[in-house]
Amino acid sequence: MSHQEKQITDRIEALTQQLNHHSRQYYVLDDPEIPDAEYDRLFRELQQLEQDHPELKTIDSPTQRVGGEALAAFTQVTHRIPMLSLGNVFSEQELLDFYKRVRDRLKTEDEIEFTAEPKLDGLAISLLYEKGVLLQAATRGDGSVGENVTENARTIRNIPLHLSGNNIPDVLEVRGEVFMSKAVFEKLNQQARDKGEKTFVNPRNAAAGSLRQLDSKIAASRQLSMYCYAVGVVEGFELPATHSEILQQLGEWGLPLCHEVEVVQAASGCQSYYEKIGKLREQLAYDIDGVVYKVNSLSLQQQLGFVARAPRWATAHKFPAQEEITQVNAIEFQVGRTGAITPVARLEPVFVGGVTVSNATLHNMDEIRRKDVRVGDQVIIRRAGDVIPEVASVVFANRPAGSVEVELPRVCPVCGSDVVQEKDEAVARCSGGLYCHAQRKEGIKHFASRRAMDIDGLGDKLVEQLVDADLIDHIDDLYLLKDKTQSIAAMERMGQKSVDNLIDSLEKSKATTLPRFIFALGIREVGEVTAASLANHFGDIRPLMQANEAELINIADVGPVVASRVVNFFSQAHNLEVIDRLLSAGIHWPAIEKKAESELPLSGLSFVVTGTLSGMGRNDAKQLLIDKGAKVTGSVSKKTSYLVVGENPGSKAAKAEELGVEILDEEAFLLLIKD
Ligand code: IVH
Repeated sequence: MSHQEKQITDRIEALTQQLNHHSRQYYVLDDPEIPDAEYDRLFRELQQLEQDHPELKTIDSPTQRVGGEALAAFTQVTHRIPMLSLGNVFSEQELLDFYKRVRDRLKTEDEIEFTAEPKLDGLAISLLYEKGVLLQAATRGDGSVGENVTENARTIRNIPLHLSGNNIPDVLEVRGEVFMSKAVFEKLNQQARDKGEKTFVNPRNAAAGSLRQLDSKIAASRQLSMYCYAVGVVEGFELPATHSEILQQLGEWGLPLCHEVEVVQAASGCQSYYEKIGKLREQLAYDIDGVVYKVNSLSLQQQLGFVARAPRWATAHKFPAQEEITQVNAIEFQVGRTGAITPVARLEPVFVGGVTVSNATLHNMDEIRRKDVRVGDQVIIRRAGDVIPEVASVVFANRPAGSVEVELPRVCPVCGSDVVQEKDEAVARCSGGLYCHAQRKEGIKHFASRRAMDIDGLGDKLVEQLVDADLIDHIDDLYLLKDKTQSIAAMERMGQKSVDNLIDSLEKSKATTLPRFIFALGIREVGEVTAASLANHFGDIRPLMQANEAELINIADVGPVVASRVVNFFSQAHNLEVIDRLLSAGIHWPAIEKKAESELPLSGLSFVVTGTLSGMGRNDAKQLLIDKGAKVTGSVSKKTSYLVVGENPGSKAAKAEELGVEILDEEAFLLLIKD
């Protein structure tokens, strides 16, 4: 080997080692040591070297992870040890029956030890390592014969291309589940929606479709993950005595494991685990459809053996379903505050994801067309966690004869104004503006809401009644209600006491803050955070009313779209009149001390707040952060600096974990604010 060749070989080896190390830190241990850009740089350098010297490329090179040439078809793989399925239990009683069967068969009164694991909702895969190198990956197929998906498996970032650590077996077949995390699923679906493409029905289908792609570049783009839960063929290695030790050993070889696995005792231990994971379910980064119990001792497993195609030593304990079938009784169009027209499916009520669902959003017309939902259809409703129930797909086989495609109404169902749809926008809108009762009502509800003017006692129902009774038309009319108390008292379900309270709350609401007032106006695209930025920048409402786009664009949080919405809002004469009347009615706020954004302690940091905080409301926490110069947004992204979590944080915590965003509990948050 020439000196130069030696240098290249050494460099390739060094790059491979570094990339494997950083890939494991990132994807398996969730603990990246270098920025993504640095990883990409190393990666491209290796790619270039391999391109220049193809003879030096190895099958376990990290560059294999981006996919290669598409296949014409998958070859078949026969599993030397069949891939089995699991029996199910659906209740505590059935769990007790399972436990009894196990003990009876073992003829023992002793407590049995189990490993308890989440039942991952993806699809099974078998990975074959020889001398520590990943040589083959196969789907389960019918349990005996599966498909060879090696190229695709290599693109799954947390699957090691070769094993690390000691005592690596000559042959090791590991089995586990390939899945798509909830965050990736939501992200890919949002991208698909934005592009007007078909969305995935659920993470499981997405994972299955992606793993079975003939084009491994597409598979790579789907960002799948995998967790191991068992071994198949093992040669040249003495297995430990228990399943939990096997899992631990797999982890030592660098294979990815689910963090929630536990060893539990007896049926009672299983049941507690089931309840615990049930509570955690929403927060997990991936979908699960239950938990799995496995007798921990391998020798007991052997004594128990198999029945039909499932082991007697294991069972799945299923959670209530998150998807159910029901019928679409009608499709209606709702009008929001900004005139956005949203189609909603009215459903035959169905119990799904733990609640009864009778409406599901259809997002917009594009979505209806893509899914081809029609009145009378049987549809699959999906409600995962705290996500709004959705029509996942239509059961076309059950479509009634003579059904017709849904059409966008040409006029607003509330006010009869024309419905318009701007080019490049998925949403259609009512053009009626404040003439439209729906928009008027929504605008007033928004104005009165807690985070805006916080008018206690003026709930959504009352706003509707007041508008319907012609007692108010616009937000400024609210402050004239004190002269109409008799008419209010005459309305249904209104006593003198409620009227007095309402007038009192209205009076109190006049003392507000500038950010709240700006937010309350309901300018499109101006949420709380933007309102706070505008308030801080202008210090008062008049200069804001006169600002032009060029000035607005320079403010933190304000882009061209927001700037044009703001200018547009203040250029409408009727809006100016409304503001004048509100100010004459006595709305006022304390003067704002303008601070240079960069002087504030938290400037430059971006926060998301989720869950219930015990010491303060979520919005108070947000306000605190904003006051200290932080940016507060609604969803976790790579740019988020911290996620503040209270009780029951929902799916945001999972997303933060996945993206490596630092999580602060309430205590840590208070500490940070104090300092
Ligand atoms: S063990 C012999 N453990 O569930 C036992 N399976 O219904 C083989 N699954 O095809 C399976 N999470 O795809 C096992 N922690 C887990 C699992 C799990 C998900 C899937 C697997 C299997 C199916 C059986």
